[in-house]
Amino acid sequence: MKKTASYKSFMNSPHVSFKHTTYFDSYDHFFGHLRGKEFTFVEIGVLDGGSLFMWRDYFGKDCRIIGVDLNPEARRWQREGFEIYVGNQSDSVFWHDFANSVGEIDIVLDDGGHTYSQQIITTESLLPHIRRWMSR
Ligand SMILES: C[S@@+](CC[C@H](N)C(=O)[O-])C[C@H]1O[C@@H](n2cnc3c(N)ncnc32)[C@H](O)[C@@H]1O
Repeated sequence: MKKTASYKSFMNSPHVSFKHTTYFDSYDHFFGHLRGKEFTFVEIGVLDGGSLFMWRDYFGKDCRIIGVDLNPEARRWQREGFEIYVGNQSDSVFWHDFANSVGEIDIVLDDGGHTYSQQIITTESLLPHIRRWMSR
């Protein structure tokens, strides 16, 4: 495996993160042009916090990082400067309230429950709130 920039940020994280090693090439391919830019990134599935720190290291200080998780214990990462929303990604009402609260989003990374129905509801709920201008 190549030690890409996202892999190095993963290794730099002070907390536990679970990522398949096959993810890192894709992260660098799709997200590399966003490093150092100001934009809004949402990750679903952040309970152990490690991926939040990984993304902060990878994207830099100007990235607004928002974590979503079913487990209210994820709120502890608010102390570290992350925005955390607790809710069930299967619930379209949760997403409606979420979108009203956070405004427009640039990137959504779904690493939550991983069922098809969760992914479909999440995509249908968030797609109207994703900006379309961030091309390479
Ligand atoms: C695979 S782990 C996330 C790993 C993390 N992204 C990382 O890189 O270390 C899955 C996470 O999704 C959360 N989760 C599971 N079902 C969910 C749901 N229906 N809605 C929101 N979050 C959910 C779990 O609490 C758990 O924190």
